[in-house]
Amino acid sequence: MERTLVLIKPDGVQRGLVGEVIGRLERRGLHLVGLKLMAVERELAERHYAEHRERPFFGAVIDFISSSPVVAMVWEGPNVVSLVRSMMGPTNPATAPPGTIRGDLGVDIGQNVVHGSDSPARAEVEVSLFFQPSELVSWERAGGSWIYP
Ligand code: RTP
Ligand code: MG
Repeated sequence: MERTLVLIKPDGVQRGLVGEVIGRLERRGLHLVGLKLMAVERELAERHYAEHRERPFFGAVIDFISSSPVVAMVWEGPNVVSLVRSMMGPTNPATAPPGTIRGDLGVDIGQNVVHGSDSPARAEVEVSLFFQPSELVSWERAGGSWIYP
């Protein structure tokens, strides 16, 4: 079973969108196995976004993600990495379709409400950056088999 890291970014937390984002993921039928409100130190931010180190927006992304608390979560489900990415919509909310988190809730590429891992391999790395193994909980949902077998 696949897992992915989802962050509700500082803009999502400050705007009171935590329940909205979690509600969408819950209603879709995804399974929550880790959750915490946390400050992202610059060192963690730089490791998380290391692939963008040479990009012109790198400094702005690091400043932003470490500017105010985030909600970090691990969600589980079949093909959950690509499923969450499709629910988030494209990076730029201005071009994200209605019905996606970014397309419904954002307008600016720098403040796009959520992060989701972009591949299963990255998901494993990102989950271990943000969570200790002891912070992840294996549990059975009542009625879970009505969502996927
Ligand atoms: P994320 O990693 O945050 O989930 O977003 P993403 O995969 O959709 O986009 P990515 O290419 O990984 O970019 C990371 C974050 O950098 C900001 N960005 N700004 N000004 C720009 O051209 C630009 N491009 C990317 C966005 O805030 C994006 O979420
Ligand atoms: Mg990304």
